[in-house]
Amino acid sequence: MHRDERPGTPESGAGGISRRDFLKLGGAGVAAVATLGVAGCGGGGGPVRTESGAIEVVFSTSPSAQAVLEKLIDRFNAEHEGEIEVSFRPAPTDTANAFDLLLTQFQAGGGEIDVIGGDVIWAAQFAANGWLADLTDRFDEGMRGEFLEGPVEAVTYEGAVYGVPWFTDAGMLYYRSDLLEESGFENPPQTWEELIEMATSVRENSDANFGFVFQGANSESGVVNGLEYINSFGGYALDPNDPNNVTIDSPESVEGLSMERRMIESGAAPDAIVTYTEEECQGSFLNGNAVFCRNWPYMYALGADESASNITQDQIGVAPLPRGEGGESVSGLGGANYYITATSDQETQDAAWEFVRYMSESVQQRTFALEASLLPTRSALYEDQEILDAVPVVSLAGEALERTVPRPVSPYYSDMSVNMAEQFNASLSGSIPPEEAVSNLQEEIQNIVDQG
Ligand code: GLC
Repeated sequence: MHRDERPGTPESGAGGISRRDFLKLGGAGVAAVATLGVAGCGGGGGPVRTESGAIEVVFSTSPSAQAVLEKLIDRFNAEHEGEIEVSFRPAPTDTANAFDLLLTQFQAGGGEIDVIGGDVIWAAQFAANGWLADLTDRFDEGMRGEFLEGPVEAVTYEGAVYGVPWFTDAGMLYYRSDLLEESGFENPPQTWEELIEMATSVRENSDANFGFVFQGANSESGVVNGLEYINSFGGYALDPNDPNNVTIDSPESVEGLSMERRMIESGAAPDAIVTYTEEECQGSFLNGNAVFCRNWPYMYALGADESASNITQDQIGVAPLPRGEGGESVSGLGGANYYITATSDQETQDAAWEFVRYMSESVQQRTFALEASLLPTRSALYEDQEILDAVPVVSLAGEALERTVPRPVSPYYSDMSVNMAEQFNASLSGSIPPEEAVSNLQEEIQNIVDQG
């Protein structure tokens, strides 16, 4: 999930076994853990009650948009005084660390969290292990019809629905409209090649230290970026029509990763990009240090926040990501959902649902769009004039959403992701050629698919 500037977020709080170690347990281990998780259900007792007798619902998510979140939680609590009280637990900002922490908690029987504001990529794995409440009857067909199709599909696993889409996400190209103009460029680049040219020439004409920053770290964000390069040249990790068919070892993937590497070789991106996540990108761009930045829509709102940004929103342009030669502009699909944990007792799950339903109402989604530039998952909000006028990134990203590519949907996604993060990062840093990275991945991902 997104990073923000708040200090003191538990960054590596997993405490227990790592994702890789966890996955090394293999199928049997995962099954045993799943049984444990469900057997630990609710700890045998009823809900935890506050002093006022309200049922306590613990909501955990990474602290992006925390100010808006806290405001909405306070409102919900005020409206449900004496009945339900939601308390907020900040989760690690890095999505993989947040995932690891939850795995450890589920493994230990469920922990205290009742509602997770969690990454879209978690649904399949958590659902397959029996850790999420089945919301098919609650988030019913009528309600689902009001939401964008992609995010609803992303919470559907083997025919059942395990979450309610909170916000969706699409990778976007941010640029310094003022600097481009000063250098005589009227439009942002359409291809990666053009981006390299513009980044180089605008940087020379300005005070910006960096031409282009993006997420190149050995992390989930590095996976999304690597896949965007691959997809923008027409390559895919898995065959979109047959997820058992691993297709990553292709000339298109090699072209994509070669282009990513060229960002460093050409000097458009700094060498340190191999350690950059969203947080470092946001820092460079909002400090005025970079001409271009690949990031998610949330960064737009920060441009209006003087404590987070040295530049103003009118210096920020947003455009679709460039395409590869012969390919198309595509964005990695991200976002977050509300998941209710199956390990909470029934009464708490009922109270949790009240909270999830409230947070998913149109009014609350509008607030997230207007104040935190999070992309709504309710279709009607893409026609809401106030949002479109105040948050241009929403209408632009609305278009980008039509060209998004989801990450592989698999109960073993987190394992695939560990491999992709490592290989993409090795290729980006030049320690192995792109050909080797995709051929290693072909074998590694195939093994994961076969074991699954
Ligand atoms: C954003 C996306 C999420 C993705 C993450 C990677 O939070 O919404 O889906 O996994 O970035 O850092």
